[in-house]
Amino acid sequence: MNELDSLVDTARAAFAEAKAPAELENAKALFLGKAGRITELMKGMAALSVDEKKSRGAAINVAKQAIEAALTARRQQLADDELAVQLRAEALDVSLPGRRRVGGGLHPVSRTLERIEAIFSSMGFDVADGPEVESDWHSFTSLNNPPNHPARSMQDTFYVDIDGEDGIPYNLRPHTSPMQVRYANQHVKKYAAQFEAAAADTTGTVKAPEIRVIAPGRTYRVDSDATHSPMFHQCEGLWLGENVSFKDLKVVFTDFCRTFFESDDLVLRFRPSFFPFTEPSAEIDIQFQSGPLAGRWLEVAGSGQVHPNVVRNMGLDPERYIGFAFGMGPDRLTMLRYGVNDLRLFFDGDLRFLSQFQ
Ligand code: DAH
Repeated sequence: MNELDSLVDTARAAFAEAKAPAELENAKALFLGKAGRITELMKGMAALSVDEKKSRGAAINVAKQAIEAALTARRQQLADDELAVQLRAEALDVSLPGRRRVGGGLHPVSRTLERIEAIFSSMGFDVADGPEVESDWHSFTSLNNPPNHPARSMQDTFYVDIDGEDGIPYNLRPHTSPMQVRYANQHVKKYAAQFEAAAADTTGTVKAPEIRVIAPGRTYRVDSDATHSPMFHQCEGLWLGENVSFKDLKVVFTDFCRTFFESDDLVLRFRPSFFPFTEPSAEIDIQFQSGPLAGRWLEVAGSGQVHPNVVRNMGLDPERYIGFAFGMGPDRLTMLRYGVNDLRLFFDGDLRFLSQFQ
């Protein structure tokens, strides 16, 4: 191998040795710099003849170009390596499944309550909220259910270790019916002027203000099996006026059921029953005419014409005010709507069950 070829090889090896751009520039100086080997060889031609200069110069130039090419290739190589390192460091594994945030959602019973509220609101009912820890007066006595009355055992509930003003312990309300008297009392107070004007009117021209309300909420009883839970929900309804009848109850409740279940294919039945706070009283049963529940009577609410004693406790004249009340079970409505057969599933908090309603 001649001297120039071996110089090119030496340069290639030196460039290959350089592991970073700065090292490569140092190596370049050794061969192509002002004091580098190529420059030295050029200088060394001074003593040669013109012909020799020509051929020697051409040969040195070939070597110089080869070294420059090696340098450029190595520069590119180092830049590529650096880029590759950087890409690897910043790599994103796009095949890794993302972390999903579990979406929250409404409980199926909450959905039912919202539905009930929306439907009754559209029929002009107010929506009222009240205490779950109740006085004996509101839960029972005001509803024509005095102490020691056997009807109280229909609603055996939990008691709190604190006595109310009447000297009887507070209870966890066994139904939403106390809201009838609570709401009516508040309403009569709030619109006292109108109620008084109506009461004082003997000409029959002043219309008495109506009471139209639903009161959904939590209720409690000493009860626990597949269709009863110690904590459950009820929704009370009350419509009182001068001329509100069972016919209105039937229209309102039929309308409600058909809207709630999104089906005109259901009929209602009023089955005689007893509640201390209504007279007469009825259980409301519904029957679907088609679909998976067709043909069976399903009890959905208790109802009746508000008892005169209850109207009196509302602060109203039972000779003037008449109307109906009902109490339904949103949990049961939810079971029917979604085809759930065990009430406890609603309150276990198992997301495998609950997330199916989202
Ligand atoms: N409070 C009753 C219960 O829990 C249900 C009920 C029946 C409510 C008749 C009413 C009614 O308003 O008129 O069993």
